[in-house]
Amino acid sequence: MGVAEPLVSLRGIGKSFANGVAALENFHLDLRDGEFLTLLGPSGCGKSTALRLIAGLATPSAGAIDWRDSAAAHNIGFVFQEATLLPWADVFANVYLPLRLAGKTREAAAPLVRETLALVGLADFETALPRQLSGGMKMRVAIARGLVTRPKLLLMDEPFAALDEVTRFRLGDDLLAMKQRLETTIVFVTHSIYESVYLSTRILALAARGGAIIDTIDIDAAIARDEEFRTSPEFAQYCRRASAALRSAYGEELR
Ligand SMILES: Nc1ncnc2c1ncn2[C@@H]1O[C@H](COP(=O)(O)OP(=O)(O)OP(=O)(O)O)[C@@H](O)[C@H]1O
Ligand SMILES: [Mg+2]
Repeated sequence: MGVAEPLVSLRGIGKSFANGVAALENFHLDLRDGEFLTLLGPSGCGKSTALRLIAGLATPSAGAIDWRDSAAAHNIGFVFQEATLLPWADVFANVYLPLRLAGKTREAAAPLVRETLALVGLADFETALPRQLSGGMKMRVAIARGLVTRPKLLLMDEPFAALDEVTRFRLGDDLLAMKQRLETTIVFVTHSIYESVYLSTRILALAARGGAIIDTIDIDAAIARDEEFRTSPEFAQYCRRASAALRSAYGEELR
């Protein structure tokens, strides 16, 4: 039996900007169904650029992005570091937005919007405005907006960076539960080694420039992600390995 074809393949991707910066050079990635893949690397190493290319928000200067199923390429959720909600619109309207843009009426969309709000734990906040919500709740709205179209792939660019640690842990656990329930594949960006090890099934540690892969860390998907894992010797060992990769990436930059 052959290995299943990847959901999306990035082959020999280069991305250069008009100012001469080469954010990515000959970058390869095969994303498999159901993965929780994290890109870990120094600031400026090309993580956001890679996400933007996968999302189709930018086009590569070299190489190709191949989707197994072109429908998946047109239904991608994207969650940014800031929740970027419409300040004048209530929670329902913010989550409804992608469906509205896809031409769905409010009535037709309502069951899906409500189901998604329940999934992120905000069933009772439909009519709240963003300014009435905590940072963690705003991020929950942003995640609901990212998932409301039931994308196969959810891209998350440092989504929890602005949150306190306890909120961050909670959102991480809830994200894993949602991922499992909706069978979403996730590409995630973080600067936190601990977060990357806790959440991921695979970590790509990237070099300081150009997106070269320093280490690929596979984390046994069968391990239950809970407090026991967080305090286990395996967790510490994965963290040491990710930390060593990151240190060597920063080392390169300082030379
Ligand atoms: N639109 C742009 N024009 C010119 N240079 C850009 C543009 N976008 C990104 N870059 C450059 O490309 C490189 C990679 O940027 P990118 O945003 O992908 O990094 P990153 O890994 O996401 O960093 P961070 O962790 O700080 O978010 C950087 O040197 C950045 O300055
Ligand atoms: Mg970035």
